[in-house]
Amino acid sequence: MDATEAESSYFNNYPPPKALNKHKALARAFIDLQVEKHRRVVLVTSGGTTVPLETQTVRFIDNFSAGTRGAASAEQFLENGYAVIFLHRQFSLLPYSRHYSHSTNCFLDFMDEDASSAIVVRSEYQTAMRDVLRKYRLAKQNNLLLVLPFTTVTEYMFELRALAHLMKPLGANALFYLAAAVSDFFIPRDRMAEHKIQSSEIPAHPNIRSNSNPLEDGDDVYTGYNEDQPSNKSKKLVIDLDPVPKFLHRLVDGWAPEGSMIVSFKLETDPNLLVYKARTSLQRYAHHLVIGNLLSTRKWEVVFVTPDPPHERWIRVPKTRRSKSISGEENLIGLAEGQHQDGQERGGQE
Ligand code: PMT
Repeated sequence: MDATEAESSYFNNYPPPKALNKHKALARAFIDLQVEKHRRVVLVTSGGTTVPLETQTVRFIDNFSAGTRGAASAEQFLENGYAVIFLHRQFSLLPYSRHYSHSTNCFLDFMDEDASSAIVVRSEYQTAMRDVLRKYRLAKQNNLLLVLPFTTVTEYMFELRALAHLMKPLGANALFYLAAAVSDFFIPRDRMAEHKIQSSEIPAHPNIRSNSNPLEDGDDVYTGYNEDQPSNKSKKLVIDLDPVPKFLHRLVDGWAPEGSMIVSFKLETDPNLLVYKARTSLQRYAHHLVIGNLLSTRKWEVVFVTPDPPHERWIRVPKTRRSKSISGEENLIGLAEGQHQDGQERGGQE
């Protein structure tokens, strides 16, 4: 099956996300405005994608990502004059509010009551919060930030494809910055249970209707009793996952605007694999930049892997700044922007 056939087969198999049309309308208006203003637009994807185990989902598999990289990068892109479409996992970190939402302090710890019982920000947080608030207001007032949520890997794929198509009029002014942690494996729809997977046998009873997609012994998704404990009627859950089609191919070759720049991320845990995997990804998809990071050091070190020299470039936040500078997004976005600008000056990325 070629990439286009894989695309049709995947997308025809799922209903589009409920919010897709609403998101498309918002994105179309946002992009039209940015085209009119001749602004550069970056689509930042952020957070983990889920893989549901049931259609009426009670349980799901998740991909690691708090959304820190995406949210911090979005702020930096805004600082550098981009308009940002922030496609993120629902309830993961958001630009600006991230400084207060998932922090070790509860947001109430930032507040106090003054003499007249009015709620105020505690004096020690005033300066930092004023700075964040001003930047946030500026982004909103100038229509520079569009925030769109997804939850499952399928929703992510539908949204990414739709947004890339809508970004066509931006041409070389468009940048894709794919920091979301995208699931590599999923359960295809035709093998997914409709209802909550049961951990024990349901007794035959006229008032209990059977699952529309019941699990049976020998079923290749969920099989068998736990043989080690024959007296225990709990089922062992065996999950058989298929690979999620790699849509980076389609993004590069069809969905994204001609001349736009595409940056993907590569997350690994084994330091010996990181650069090799990033290079392989760049060769396979023929896009413009892979930013590699290791799970354990991702906040202060990344590697830029590019088709042109120097091919491999490490960016590290010095040890002395690590507690303050969370992830060095300033340098990272500066470099990505430099490459985007070079491409624009040549009339678009090759
Ligand atoms: O959010 P934080 O906690 O700050 O963490 C940030 C991060 C570590 C999640 C981020 O920096 C990062 O590395 N994100 C990419 C993680 C990831 O999906 O890596 P991957 O090796 O599985 O995929 C590589 C690329 O292929 C990704 O750009 C992805 O968009 C793409 N992909 C992946 C799977 C798939 N089915 N199709 C794809 O196109």
